[in-house]
Amino acid sequence: PIYNDYFFNESAYDYHDGGYVPLEKYDSPTVPLNIPEILKPDKETDTDVWLTVHAQPGETQIVPGPKTKTWGYNQSLLGKTIVFKSGKTYHVTLKNTLPELTTFHWHGLDVPGPFIDGGCHAPVYPGEAKEITFKVEQPASTTWLHVHPCPLTGWDVWHGLAAMAYVKDEHEACLPIPHNYGVDDIPVVLQDRRFHEDNQWDYDGDYDPDGTAGPTAMLNGTVNPEFDVTTQKLRVRFLDGSNRREWRLHLSDDLVMTQIASDGGLLPEPVQMTKFMITCAERAEFILDFKDYKPGDKVSLYSDDMPILTFNIKEFAKDDTEIPEHLADTSYPDPEPNAHVHQVVMSGTDEEVMLNGKKFGMMRIDDRQELGKSEYWDITNTNDCCGGMLHPYHMHGGSFQIVSRNGEAPYPNELGYKDTVSVNPGETVRIKMKFNYEGVFMYHCHIIEHEDGGMMAQMQVWTKEEPEKKYNLMAMDTL
Ligand code: C2O
Ligand code: CU
Ligand code: CU
Repeated sequence: PIYNDYFFNESAYDYHDGGYVPLEKYDSPTVPLNIPEILKPDKETDTDVWLTVHAQPGETQIVPGPKTKTWGYNQSLLGKTIVFKSGKTYHVTLKNTLPELTTFHWHGLDVPGPFIDGGCHAPVYPGEAKEITFKVEQPASTTWLHVHPCPLTGWDVWHGLAAMAYVKDEHEACLPIPHNYGVDDIPVVLQDRRFHEDNQWDYDGDYDPDGTAGPTAMLNGTVNPEFDVTTQKLRVRFLDGSNRREWRLHLSDDLVMTQIASDGGLLPEPVQMTKFMITCAERAEFILDFKDYKPGDKVSLYSDDMPILTFNIKEFAKDDTEIPEHLADTSYPDPEPNAHVHQVVMSGTDEEVMLNGKKFGMMRIDDRQELGKSEYWDITNTNDCCGGMLHPYHMHGGSFQIVSRNGEAPYPNELGYKDTVSVNPGETVRIKMKFNYEGVFMYHCHIIEHEDGGMMAQMQVWTKEEPEKKYNLMAMDTL
């Protein structure tokens, strides 16, 4: 089948919010889509890789006129793309030359918490550098790096601290799908901003407790981007890197998009659709096939009714390869029959947001799960169907599998590994989660202002050897 449905409850879409900021066309010429360079390792052996990730302030020419003051990783805005090879051990130097403390959160990487995971308990102070070491052992996937100091994540991400981090493995490398970075395999980080006087950003002025948004689409830090298509098939890796916005994507002529991967890697089978909605922090990989177009044609990518990226079709060689019908095995162990079922209740909007009736407490452990055991988590959104919103629920510490939505089957493109799932108002999403590393991990709504506003909690993954292990957790006011 070819789906032409955004699946979620339309009554909860962001455009029904009182504070919704519609996308507007920014009056500036079309420019090539930025493709960030791949971050070069400092050193590499057969088994180990050394990298430096540098959080730095800078200035970026985004729109004509004055440059915008921005922050980024190894560049002035967003970041170089980090590529991890599954099976290798990484020694990452986290360097901070920003004027304030920062953290480096590996969203979607399967690593121990809380210090390597890089949430709010892992500050790197201005002028400091700190080395972390971890082994990457997970399937090929599109993960990302972002800043995570509670409760300043919203401000910091808005200023640019977000980068793509790919995981590669041999299975994915052997599939007949595009792999040529920047040519037929491109990242697209979807964000929105408002440019104020002198092209500066004003997060505090634009702040909305239900999620800060701006009218100008910015893709990979590019406003009004175009991309030259030089191959028949193009793989696009989307990340919703915006603080709040939902992107309802579709192409001119309702061109079919074939989804091959979600947050945690390849889907079991490709899923074809003409409409796709991505919510905060989710990733999705698609293959677009331009076989029916000829040089000189243009194809637009839209979000709702706003064109946000133009594909310029160039000469390309005919490509008859077929996307395999089976992409990956994605079995997830079932919990034991009487295993505990965790409850997560996301409630409220604006300043009233809470998780399980509480605001986030950095020193409080809200839940516990044993290392290596699979358990169900029931994630409920108690917002009212009318006037409520979708809350994209995210869990640190690994990937989960979606079991059901209000007892019904998940959406057809939700059968792969996920780390973020949007929950409709009045809905309970059941997920199966197994942690492969110990530590303290956060879980929260990924509308960043909701997470900063307290719709967040943390859990401890405990081990038989040391069930009550104490971690050196930071208090909120130490930031
Ligand atoms: Cu994208 Cu707490 O994470
Ligand atoms: Cu995360
Ligand atoms: Cu939320």
